[in-house]
Amino acid sequence: MKRIAVIPGDGIGPEVIREAVLVLERLRETHDVQLQFTDFDWGAEKFLREGVSLPEGALEMLSRDFDAILAGAFGDPRIPSNKVAEDVLLGMRRGLDLYINLRPVRLLDARLSPLRDRKVEDIDFVVFRENTEGAYCGAGGFLKKGTADEIATQEELNTRRGVERIIVAAFEYARANGRKRVTMADKSNVQRFGGDLWQRVCKEVGSRYPEIETNHQYVDAMSMFMVLDPAQYDVVVSNNLFGDILTDLGAAIVGGLGLAASGNIHPGRVSLFEPVHGSAPPLAGKGIANPIGAILTAAIMLDYLGYKTASVALESAVQQSVLNGETTRDLGGTLSTSEAGKAIRQRIQ
Ligand code: NAD
Ligand code: IPM
Ligand code: MN
Repeated sequence: MKRIAVIPGDGIGPEVIREAVLVLERLRETHDVQLQFTDFDWGAEKFLREGVSLPEGALEMLSRDFDAILAGAFGDPRIPSNKVAEDVLLGMRRGLDLYINLRPVRLLDARLSPLRDRKVEDIDFVVFRENTEGAYCGAGGFLKKGTADEIATQEELNTRRGVERIIVAAFEYARANGRKRVTMADKSNVQRFGGDLWQRVCKEVGSRYPEIETNHQYVDAMSMFMVLDPAQYDVVVSNNLFGDILTDLGAAIVGGLGLAASGNIHPGRVSLFEPVHGSAPPLAGKGIANPIGAILTAAIMLDYLGYKTASVALESAVQQSVLNGETTRDLGGTLSTSEAGKAIRQRIQ
């Protein structure tokens, strides 16, 4: 039995997570998948009500009592400081040391790409985003805040250990999945120190995988090539901030944020699975959010938990429903969130 902590969160989070859980419940019937769900109400409402974002002892409880965490999204216009996302989401990524942010970019149906003349086989890569340091380390500060002489510094942290383990994860994934090339993106022509470290570590690690091509691109060029020639990518590895930006772009070229999925992983430990999109306040409460990002996230979680067959069956059900136009309006369909979820459940075999 695998124990899943479910944190629906804010905005459209609860709407899409509901569909992901229903799909997982369906898989319990069709496949040998044993899951037990426990809900947590962490998010904006709880914070506004009780002043609590990530409850005391939460990380210890998650590591002790759960195998995986399925989360929706965090962010609410009533909390401009973004404190809940900072404490809960970044808190879990950092506090549970979930150093791999795995974000697949795969075109399910040629009609979904805004790029002209793309076939499904042209866009199929996986981004390994460093998930615990970089620009997300929270270092920096103000001097003379609020004055004309104000100074704000915002630092970036790159540790040898942190850079190496994410690059190793990318190469290991490439090896295990028959991928031919790992492309590392940085801005080492300007960021001379962090970039230098990434360059050296990537060359060194890459030399241990002679069958895989080690490739490098500056991140600005990569954002151009992801639009002009996405077929060249197999596995991409980058730091926390560039990985964040590149994966929204990646989502856009395969149909939008509504269908992008992710895993925040530390192999062998409790890991966190969440769609790439946020709480999308303009869509919340309308029943129009696309549940596919959350549902494909559940597929990544199943794979992580060792339920490979169920994961593949779920991805295939999603693809079939997309090919048949059973989609929400962001993908050109007419279905509501719950109707789109139901269409996928009915296609699970
Ligand atoms: P967002 O991802 O919430 O939404 C951007 C736009 O993408 C939406 O307006 C919508 O057009 C589209 N979109 C996103 N998800 C969709 C879905 N499931 N179906 C259909 N369309 C979808 O990004 P944002 O507007 O920049 O951020 C809103 C809030 O969410 C902010 O508070 C932000 O900090 C937060 N956020 C949280 C996470 C997370 O919890 N993982 C991720 C990104 C943003
Ligand atoms: C994401 C989001 C988060 C990030 C925000 C909400 C902190 O954009 O998961 O991609 O920047 O990592
Ligand atoms: Mn993001």
